[in-house]
This record gives sequence, C-alpha cells and structure tokens, in this order.
Amino acid sequence: MSITTEFLQKANDGKLVIGIVGLGYVGLPLADAYVAKNVKVIGYDISQDRVDELNAGRSGMRHIADSRVAAMVEKGLFRATTNAADLREADALLIAVPTPLDKYHRPDLSYVRATCETLKDHLRRGQLVVLESTTYPGTTEEVMQPILEKSGLIAGEDFAMAYSPEREDPGNEDYNTATIPKVVGADTESGRAMANAVYEKIVETVMVSNARTAEATKLVENIYRWINIAAVNEMKIIFEKMDIDIWEVIDAAKTKPFGFHAFYPGPGVGGHCIRIDPYYLSWKAREHGLATHFIELAGEINTKMPRRIISRLLEEMSLRQQKALSGAKVLLCGLAYKKNIDDMRESPSLELFHILKEHGADVSYYDSFIPEIPMTREHPEFAGEKSIEWTKQTLSEFDAVVIATDHTDVAYEDLGKYVPLIIDTRNVMAEFSEKYADKIVKA
Ligand SMILES: NC(=O)c1ccc[n+]([C@@H]2O[C@H](COP(=O)([O-])OP(=O)(O)OC[C@H]3O[C@@H](n4cnc5c(N)ncnc54)[C@H](O)[C@@H]3O)[C@@H](O)[C@H]2O)c1
Repeated sequence: MSITTEFLQKANDGKLVIGIVGLGYVGLPLADAYVAKNVKVIGYDISQDRVDELNAGRSGMRHIADSRVAAMVEKGLFRATTNAADLREADALLIAVPTPLDKYHRPDLSYVRATCETLKDHLRRGQLVVLESTTYPGTTEEVMQPILEKSGLIAGEDFAMAYSPEREDPGNEDYNTATIPKVVGADTESGRAMANAVYEKIVETVMVSNARTAEATKLVENIYRWINIAAVNEMKIIFEKMDIDIWEVIDAAKTKPFGFHAFYPGPGVGGHCIRIDPYYLSWKAREHGLATHFIELAGEINTKMPRRIISRLLEEMSLRQQKALSGAKVLLCGLAYKKNIDDMRESPSLELFHILKEHGADVSYYDSFIPEIPMTREHPEFAGEKSIEWTKQTLSEFDAVVIATDHTDVAYEDLGKYVPLIIDTRNVMAEFSEKYADKIVKA
C-alpha cells in the first residue's frame, strides 16, 4: 500500500496521532486544537522545564488558562516529552520552533536545522513532516528535505513533507487556531493529500500548489503589515506638524466600506513575527540579485520610532517642566509588544527602556502581564527588573510616563491624576483628553 493510501485510511478511521515539535506560543494552541477534536497529540520540546510545566497542567502563558492544559492532560490525549524517540508513534510531525534573525539581520535557521537533525534519527516510513515556522521560500525543499533524507528515506516516496504557515494571533479573542484558515503547500501529491488530511481535522484548509508558495504567503501577510505600519508612522509625524490628529484621521478613513484597512501608529514594531519575517525575504531576494526596497524603507521608519518618541519626551520635559531627562524619574507603561499578552520578544519597549537609560533617566516600568523582565536576546541587562506597584504614591513620584502598550487592564485615568507629563503612543488617554489636556502629548 502507498504511504498516502495508508495515511488517509488512518485519517478516515480517526486513528492519526499528531506529533508537535516546539511547544511555545504556536505549538501549544495547535496541540489544544487537536485534543479538542479527540486526536491524540505527542508534544516534543527540548526544554525539560517546558515539558514538566505542561505535563503538570500549566500553560506558562497568561492568555492561555492553565485549566485548558490541565484538561488536555487529564483527557489522556496530550503528553509532552523531551524524548524524540517518542515521536515515532506520531503519523504527522508539525514543527513550530523559533526562526529569529542573527545579529546581522540574517535568517537564523539553527532551530529548524537542529530539529530536522533530531527528527531524521527517528523518522519512519509513512510519516508526514510539516514545517510551520515562518521562513523564506525554499526552506522546506532546500533545508529540511536534505537533512531528513540523511535518514536514508526518500521524500515523496517513503515519507512526505509540507509547509503550512502559522497564523496564530495570541490574545486575539475573535480568532484562534481552530478558526483561522490554514494555508498548506507541498511539492508532491502525497504531501498535499496527507497534509490536507491532517489539517482538515481542525480547520478549513487552503491548498496551494507547492511549499514555496505557502512559505511566500506567510511572508506577504507580514510584510503587508510591516509596510503599512511604517506608512502610518510616517504620516503621524507629518500630521503632528500640521496639528492633525492621526487617530482621528484613521477613525474617519475607516468608515469607508472598501479599499481601506486601518493600521495604527505606535512606538515602533515588535514581536516575533512582523519585526523579523520581512528580513527573511530580503535575505533570500539577494540570492537572486534583487533588493527589497519597501521592506528596507519600512524598516528605517519603524526602527527609528522609539528614538523619536524619546526625543518628543525630551522636548516636552524641557518646554513644560524646564527639566532634562538626565536624572528624571520616568515610568514606561507596558512592556509587551502588543496588548493583553505577556510576550515581550523584540518589543519596542525594550528599546525605549534602553534609550531612556542612555539619557541618564531613572526608569521604572509597569506591566501586570510581565511582573519581572525575563532574559532577552536584545537586552539581557534588563533581566530581573520588576514592575512597580500601581498606587497613587508610586505614580506620584514620576516626572513623566511613556505609554508604550495599550493593555486593557490599566487604570489610565490615574496617570492623568498623578503624573505631570504623559507621552501617549497608543491613544489610550483619548477619553480623558479634555480633563488632562495640559498633561497629555500624543506621540
Ligand atoms: N508567536 C506567534 O504569535 C507566532 C505567530 C505566527 C507564526 N509564528 C512562528 O512560529 C514559530 C514558533 O514561534 P513561537 O512563538 O511558538 O516560539 P516559542 O519560542 O514560543 O516556542 C518555541 C518552542 O520550541 C522549542 N524548541 C526550540 N528548539 C527546539 C528543538 N530543536 N526541538 C524541539 N523544540 C525546540 C522551545 O523550547 C520553545 O518551547 C516561529 O517561526 C514564529 O515566527 C509565531
């Protein structure tokens, strides 16, 4: 029997076992979606702490309730392991490991390579391997396939491969893994059929003709955001000079029922995706002697935003308070790269923190989602700093606050009451703009 026929038979009989490699922000919700459909999942991660935490029923992420993970474990359908040999039991291996940039802004595929090196030692005939990590077009074929074939098995004959980008949006209450259509691409008929059978168990699938088209789709989605955010950040700066409120403009523009999608300015762009993924294409385009002008230009604008915000703070302190930033007590409100999540990877707040310190400011932060700053690749020096307590007394000690993240659990009016200068990069003070007009600066 061909590997496809055997696989599809198992899928029809409801006997597929799913292996998920990398149990982070993407891998865990994916596991949850399968368990919810009564599909058995084996989760593999190299971190023993992560595996122990999950097996003990703790999610380790504030936006995913521990009770959800505990229920997965109790149902007997989910088990996490650090033993890669356990993955032999799985029919499909879905890989969701990090794909960051190195310090020269080049794709760092070391996690993907390490994963494939591990998997090749345990790969068996009939398995499907799907890469879900965001990456440049060609990775599945050029990077994953040669490593997996070192097992002696041939892709498309003995095992199948596919690529399916992850569109998880942590903290989004309207969409989740089970409701966001999944783009799937594979270079062989077996890959397409098997991957479709795996994903249609949990979600609507969108099949494209090959893996590189699926890889490119994910990059296009995030490059679209990267460029549009840069455009709106630039327009904000221009409109500031014309005494026009960009937020009011966007609210008006989005009443147009077609042809306009609202993007909002901010203190910069953060997160594990939008700030990183565009450069995967820039790097790959160079192989073809091509430049990605839009990506680079957007990068120039977006990465300058934190410095611009602090320049604005400097100006306003000197004008309004006749004070310098050096020695001033400044509160950074929000560390996460977006609202209502505890993820601060690549967050512009870290850059704001750094620039404020560079100017000699006495900086503290508040973020109920991040009570203590973990070790980060970009700024290890801030690890261990703790969030302030949100009280009248602590707030009254600050000369200024920079609002960097628009978490919804913050009593923003307190800033109006107790802090003399508020640099608001997220427009969260809008409803108090008249009451505290003399203190609020939209930046
Ligand atoms: N976080 C998001 O919102 C999001 C959204 C869409 C796409 N993505 C993409 O999904 C991928 C995963 O991102 P994430 O946010 O889930 O990362 P994450 O850091 O939250 O999780 C990755 C997990 O992989 C584990 N890991 C690392 N190396 C491993 C290896 N060799 N074998 C097994 N496990 C290993 C880590 O211990 C960690 O638990 C990335 O390519 C990212 O760009 C992320």
